[in-house]
Amino acid sequence: MSTAASSSTHADALVPPRIPLADGGWLSTVSLGTWKLDHEAARAAVAASILAGYRQVDTAARYHNELGVGQGIRDAGLADGEVQVTTKVRGGDQGYEETLRAVESSRRILGLDRIDLCLVHWPLPRLDRYVDTWRALVRLREDGVVASIGVSNFSLEQIDRLEAETGVLPVVDQVELHPRLPQAALRAGLAGRGVVAQAWGPLGRGKGLLDAEPLVAAARAHGVTPAQVALRWLVEIGAPPVPKSGDPDRRLANLDVFGFALTPDEHAAIATLETGERAGKDPATDEEF
Ligand SMILES: NC(=O)c1ccc[n+]([C@@H]2O[C@H](COP(=O)([O-])OP(=O)(O)OC[C@H]3O[C@@H](n4cnc5c(N)ncnc54)[C@H](OP(=O)(O)O)[C@@H]3O)[C@@H](O)[C@H]2O)c1
Repeated sequence: MSTAASSSTHADALVPPRIPLADGGWLSTVSLGTWKLDHEAARAAVAASILAGYRQVDTAARYHNELGVGQGIRDAGLADGEVQVTTKVRGGDQGYEETLRAVESSRRILGLDRIDLCLVHWPLPRLDRYVDTWRALVRLREDGVVASIGVSNFSLEQIDRLEAETGVLPVVDQVELHPRLPQAALRAGLAGRGVVAQAWGPLGRGKGLLDAEPLVAAARAHGVTPAQVALRWLVEIGAPPVPKSGDPDRRLANLDVFGFALTPDEHAAIATLETGERAGKDPATDEEF
C-alpha cells in the first residue's frame, strides 16, 4: 500500500503480530472489518483504528466503501507498508477481462499504487468463472498491481482446482469461522496447503453467540469480554479474525486479545458450542453478486 509517510500512531497502540503468508507477505492477526460502514463511517473508523493499532483493513468492492477506506488510511498517515488493505472481486465482476477491469477500479478508488491482498469474494460454482477470475488475479500479481492473492468462501476442492488449472495456490481463504462453525476439516486442509484460514463473522455477527456460557465463563475468569474470548480463541486456533464494530470502544477491545491465554478446559468448553450453524450465507448453495 502506498500512503504519505508521517507516522502518528498513539504511543500505546495495540499492534497485533503479523502472520507470514506463503508468498512472503503477511497478514495481521486481527484485521478491521468494514462491512456495512458507508464511506464516511469507514473513513473515520479506519483512521482511528489504525492509530489505535490495527494494521490490516478488510473491504470489498461490494461494500461500496473503498473510497472511505482509502481516505481513512491516508488520514492515519503511517509510513508505506505499515498498513495493508484487503479487497475482493465481487461475483458480478468474475471472468478474466472483467476482473482485470474491476481490480483496477478498486485500486483507483482506494487511491493506492498497489493492492496488498485481493480475494475472489465467492466461488459461485454455478457461474463457473472462478478459474478465469483467478487467472486474472495471477496476472495482476505478476504485473505488480496486487501484492498477494487469495480467495474467500472457497472449499478445498475449489482451491485444488485453482492449483490444478493454474499452478498457483491462494495464500488466504477468508471463510466464516466462529465457535459455532469451527470448520476443523477445512482449516486442517488449508494448513496442509500452506493457506491461511482467515475468520469472517468471528463474533457470530451479533446473533447471540456472545451470550453462550463457555464464552461468558472464560470472559469472567480472565476479566475480559465474551467477544474478546471468541477472538482470542480464533487467534489460538490459528484463524486470524476480522471483527467489525461500528463502535470505537468495541473496535479497540477487539484488538486487545493478546494479554491472556485460554486454558485447555476453556478450549474444551468452547468446543461444545459447535452446531455447524452459519450466521451468513452458505457458499455451496447461496450466491452473491
Ligand atoms: N468474505 C466474506 O464473504 C465476508 C462476509 C462477511 C463479512 N466479512 C468481513 O468480516 C467482517 C466481520 O464480519 P461481520 O461484520 O459479518 O460479523 P462479526 O464481526 O462477527 O460481528 C459484527 C457484529 O458484532 C458486534 N460487535 C462487534 N464487536 C463487538 C464487541 N466487542 N462486543 C459485542 N458485540 C460486538 C457488531 O455490533 P456493533 O457494530 O454495534 O459493535 C456487529 O453487530 C466484515 O465486516 C467484513 O469485513 C467477509
